[in-house]
Amino acid sequence: MSREKVLALLRERQGEYCSGEAMSRQLGISRAGVWKAIEGLRQEGYTISSAPNRGYRLEEGPDLLRAGELSGALSGCLVGRKLLCLETVDSTNTECKRRAMAGEAEGLVVVADEQTGGRGRLGRSFQSPKGQGLYLSALLRPRLEPGQVADFTAWVAVAVCDGIEAACGVRPRIKWTNDIILGGKKLVGILTELGLESESNALEYLIPGIGVNVNQAPEDFSPEIRDMATSLAQELGRPVRRSDLAVQIILALDRMYAGFPENKAEYLEKYRADCLTPGNQVQLITPVSRQEAYAVAVDDDFRLVVELPDGTRKALSAGEVSVRGMYGYV
Ligand code: BTN
Repeated sequence: MSREKVLALLRERQGEYCSGEAMSRQLGISRAGVWKAIEGLRQEGYTISSAPNRGYRLEEGPDLLRAGELSGALSGCLVGRKLLCLETVDSTNTECKRRAMAGEAEGLVVVADEQTGGRGRLGRSFQSPKGQGLYLSALLRPRLEPGQVADFTAWVAVAVCDGIEAACGVRPRIKWTNDIILGGKKLVGILTELGLESESNALEYLIPGIGVNVNQAPEDFSPEIRDMATSLAQELGRPVRRSDLAVQIILALDRMYAGFPENKAEYLEKYRADCLTPGNQVQLITPVSRQEAYAVAVDDDFRLVVELPDGTRKALSAGEVSVRGMYGYV
């Protein structure tokens, strides 16, 4: 694992030279070990320049989701204190759940280059092609009642917008309750799952799972979702480094979680500013019905207040109903 540590150090000091001796001291490995790690990274495609008496400098490298790319920026964070970076997995949420049930402490983040069974809300699947998206889940164990985390997924949506804005310079919008939208199409899906202790019903774990379409071209989406889905690369007209995006999203999740639920006023204000559903005619979809309504506002509990054709108003909770625009996905 010396290679990951050396990479993390070079990333942390990107643009600067790090001497072999200082790295060896800081990481507790021999100078020869540092050199071997540098050579290994070069063979993997990293361009690392070296200068006599100055050391090594990372110039550029492949966009790989690996601990060495992420960990340097996350020191001191609770979310991301431990990283599991996988080439392939059925679902990062399922992997987090398996680890939670085996007793893993909170803060673990699972990231994968590909999911073979990516899961979405309402039993749907989430297309997770290799090397194109960011598939990320976090294991959290808040000391709260299940009812106190009902709006957590809305907070996650705000954190994801924060992370994308920090990494890419554009702030996407939120379609109530937690789809992230850019250019009128879906950019990110969020699936938050929780585990309850069977006898007491106490909250055992909470797992927000985030799937970002990063570098897909339109033809990479299946025909059923092509008109509704977009990627950061499509909207920005340039590829985006998934590792930089992962770092910014994890940092934003960590900041958000550190203030949950005390910082409700801040996240509610941001959610209201980001949410593009109010002011639109929508369809309320349940497994057995479809109904037209006018979306009025987001209330103080992140619920969507809608007005029905007969003039009555009701507040909808996440999970109760799906909302679709009348004239397209948003
Ligand atoms: C949705 O849009 O319905 C939610 C999609 C959530 C997808 C993410 S990808 C990472 C994590 N692992 C999964 O299997 N699902 C979530």
